[in-house]
Amino acid sequence: MNGIALLFFSSFAYICAAIPQFPEQEKEPKFWRDWAQRTLTKALSLQRLNTNIAKNAILFLGDGMGIPTVTAARILKGQMNGFSGEETQLEMDKFPHVALAKTYNTNAQVPDSAGTATAYLCGVKANEGTVGVSAAAVRSQCNTTFGNEVTSILKWAKDAGKSVGIVTTTRVNHATPSAAYAHCVDRDWYSDGEMPPEAIQGGCKDIARQLLENIPNIDVIMGGGRKYMYPKNTPDVEYPNEYKANGTRRDGRRLVDEWKSSKGNQAAHYVWNKNQLLALNPHKVDYLLGLFEPADMQYDLERDKQMDPSLAEMVEVAIKILQKNPKGFYLLVEGKWPACGRIDHGHHEGKAKQALHEAVQMDIAVGKAGVLTSEEDTLTVVTADHSHVFTFGGYTLRGNSIFGLAPMQSDVDNKPFTSILYGNGPGFKLSNGERENISTIDYKQNNYLAQSAVPLQMETHGGEDVAVFAKGPLAHLLHGVHEQNYIPHVIAYATCIGQNTEHCKGGYPVPCGASSLTSTLSNLLSFLILSLLLCWP
Ligand SMILES: *[C@@H]1O[C@H](CO)[C@@H](O)[C@H](O)[C@H]1NC(C)=O
Ligand SMILES: *[C@@H]1O[C@H](CO)[C@@H](O)[C@H](O)[C@H]1NC(C)=O
Ligand SMILES: *[C@@H]1O[C@H](CO)[C@@H](O)[C@H](O)[C@H]1NC(C)=O
Ligand SMILES: [Zn+2]
Repeated sequence: MNGIALLFFSSFAYICAAIPQFPEQEKEPKFWRDWAQRTLTKALSLQRLNTNIAKNAILFLGDGMGIPTVTAARILKGQMNGFSGEETQLEMDKFPHVALAKTYNTNAQVPDSAGTATAYLCGVKANEGTVGVSAAAVRSQCNTTFGNEVTSILKWAKDAGKSVGIVTTTRVNHATPSAAYAHCVDRDWYSDGEMPPEAIQGGCKDIARQLLENIPNIDVIMGGGRKYMYPKNTPDVEYPNEYKANGTRRDGRRLVDEWKSSKGNQAAHYVWNKNQLLALNPHKVDYLLGLFEPADMQYDLERDKQMDPSLAEMVEVAIKILQKNPKGFYLLVEGKWPACGRIDHGHHEGKAKQALHEAVQMDIAVGKAGVLTSEEDTLTVVTADHSHVFTFGGYTLRGNSIFGLAPMQSDVDNKPFTSILYGNGPGFKLSNGERENISTIDYKQNNYLAQSAVPLQMETHGGEDVAVFAKGPLAHLLHGVHEQNYIPHVIAYATCIGQNTEHCKGGYPVPCGASSLTSTLSNLLSFLILSLLLCWP
């Protein structure tokens, strides 16, 4: 106890010895009181709940974007704009309603992206490694697929006459997007080239094929994954000399060509680079298939800005195409944290900088979607499938570079350490039997591997809850600690699609919330209690 107290106070003394930089106005109590009062006024206006029927819904899924990642990305975004960062508001921070989602899979405490995608797209929790099938299906066992398929909100929306789209920075047949259209007991069955022969003989289908066969006429599909659409040994259009980019299909099918011809004389466009994408007039496009890389798209920091669109550019084109439908649309957008989306992929590789820049890109895309839609008729939800064992700490001072050092050295090995660290991953490194001295290392470079406690080639997911940010009609139904599979039930209810549409007949959902007098009183009461608690000393 004494030791801990000593440690705390000595580190605190260390911090207080340095001079943190922060805006002069923050010394004024009035600055903080005014800001809080503005926030309070906004919060009070939420008593008039938005109970419109949502015409459109957009789900932004930050793959691997746990809460520590959101906070670090917020600081990074602020610092990229020349501020100290902590006070910055992400676009998702501005959403009025926030909940937590419990991410475990039926058979896993710490989940994977496939089982979680089944939860937040199909509304049913499932086993890790499986997409679009219930927990009765067993990973990699083809014969457990049949009879256990579960449909997704993308299909419910399409069946209701809405336009639907998928935009991702991973391959379009990766775990996250695939639960929207596929029923597959193995997330790795990207094409038949990755499937065991027994599974093919057993009648199971690869995910790329299911993308184009299961829900005919998905209006917009954008991401990576070209190679899974072409026969083995077919050179890639952009990387003809790279053997890893060659086609992978054993069945000899050319799925892109099949997609194009299935659309007859409708305006169906296949694009594979940014110029082709931006040259399109969205008002004249019925169907769009954009495949910008052979597998996953590049990290944004490494993106070829001439050849590959950003996530926000893809989202803008997608919304403009989908918005033409008078019945509305459903759009799934995945941004990777570097290991799963690219956010996820970055973390898995221990590359925090790549991961955080991906998260910032996703937030920029959230902002773009906000400009193109209205909260009056569009429900927007931003969440993550799971977290990572990523953290930042070390009593860093206000405005410290998010990629910087803690303002102290270890009092055990007397070496400096970065604020960002991982619980496990490839950043574990000993030199001469000791933790590496990072003083002479460029720990701010894009691909620096932050130190981890346990050596692993691939850093792992984390098991804690993820945040769910929501705005638009009935966003307040996301309001507490929820099971992750609740999310599509809310989106479906709000958009009047899927299993539960009784409330839609009168034109408006049943009014939610108490009478305005009761809620004003209860608000006043909580405000008083809060003021007492906060101002007690
Ligand atoms: C399903 O396949 C597995 C082998 O993958 C086999 O052991 C099992 O008996 C099969 N079950 C049925 C019901 O056919
Ligand atoms: C990949 O494609 C190239 C043509 O660009 C071809 O020469 C090569 O044999 C292919 N490699 C494999 C392993 O299929
Ligand atoms: C770490 O490296 C720096 C720079 O080379 C050096 O000054 C410092 O003494 C080293 N610390 C330890 C504990 O080896
Ligand atoms: Zn992952």
